Amino acid sequence: MKALRILGIETSCDETAVSILYASKTKVIVEQDFVSSQVPIHQKYGGVVPEVAARSHVPETVSLITQALGKKGMKAFDAIAVTSGPGLATALRVGIEAARVLAWLSGKPIVGVNHLEGHLASAWLNVENRKLWKFPLLALIVSGGHTELVLMKHFGKYRIVGQTRDDAAGEAFDKTAKLMGLPYPGGPQIAKLALQGDAKAFDLPRPMMKDPSLDFSFSGLKTAVRIAWEPWMKGPVERRDQAKRDLAASLQQAIVDVLVDKTSRATKKYKVKGVLLVGGVSANQLLRETLGKALVEQFPGVAFLPSDRKYITDNAAMIAAAGAWNLWRRKTDDWRKMDAKPEWNL
Ligand code: KG4
Ligand code: ZN
Repeated sequence: MKALRILGIETSCDETAVSILYASKTKVIVEQDFVSSQVPIHQKYGGVVPEVAARSHVPETVSLITQALGKKGMKAFDAIAVTSGPGLATALRVGIEAARVLAWLSGKPIVGVNHLEGHLASAWLNVENRKLWKFPLLALIVSGGHTELVLMKHFGKYRIVGQTRDDAAGEAFDKTAKLMGLPYPGGPQIAKLALQGDAKAFDLPRPMMKDPSLDFSFSGLKTAVRIAWEPWMKGPVERRDQAKRDLAASLQQAIVDVLVDKTSRATKKYKVKGVLLVGGVSANQLLRETLGKALVEQFPGVAFLPSDRKYITDNAAMIAAAGAWNLWRRKTDDWRKMDAKPEWNL
């Protein structure tokens, strides 16, 4: 495991991110970390508009790379890791093209990273987590586009043992928030309202919780929320506001219940030594607390390894970290042949 300084580049969705990570056998240090979020740009459309995202990445990618390299220029890094997929094709290409040019000019190795492997690596950026890192591990990846339970047999050896059959958990938050007139992204909005709501006020379904598989389904919750919310839309404002808080709390509880139940079942089934919690939805405090508690109670020997709040949402430090995992296994790509892989599975 050679010590490497890796330039990470991420442009798969609505954050432009560039990072420089120093990784050796004994030390992992995020030396530079820049993230430029497009959330304010997409907010007025109520969601991410792919063409707008791609165009906005162009100036930001150039600006962040320039800042990260500074005076050292090509000497600032030993290798490049860039998100190749999954994600929005035109957005991904902005980061990939920049990375290819840098690889050509510098003559240094480049590797295309799977964005989901990046989310897995976000948990590894935490030094405490690395101390408890023993395979096999289980990861719950919960983001705006993905809800997956991944069995990690080793670095690079992954098996998806459960996934959503329709909407991702983040989508369930975002779409129901939109129904209730809340701005994008809905997850943090729902979580904030839920703090003052009664999670038992609305009896929402726990989709597929009784199903023996480890798969998820969240699209039904959207319909259930729409039906529950309709009568309140025209009601008196004061009561409507409380109903909104109660519905937010009930929805959050329903999503957390399903995620925690299936993760516990997978922990038992695959006898894993630790459980990672990563992706945008892992910012949810109720999810972090409930899953942490469930693991301690049911599986005392199993380590709970959530990613640090700093690296939960899309960033390039996690891409550089996953790049290290790949480069250490001698996996590299040819810059001449690289292209976006919008549908790349783990
Ligand atoms: O991983 P991420 O930043 O981007 C994707 O790769 O999708 O995840 C974004 C998702 C959004 O759906 C957002 O609503 C959700 O994460 N999210 C939350 C919270 N913070 C962000 N969901 C629930 N509770 C939160 N506190
Ligand atoms: Zn992501």
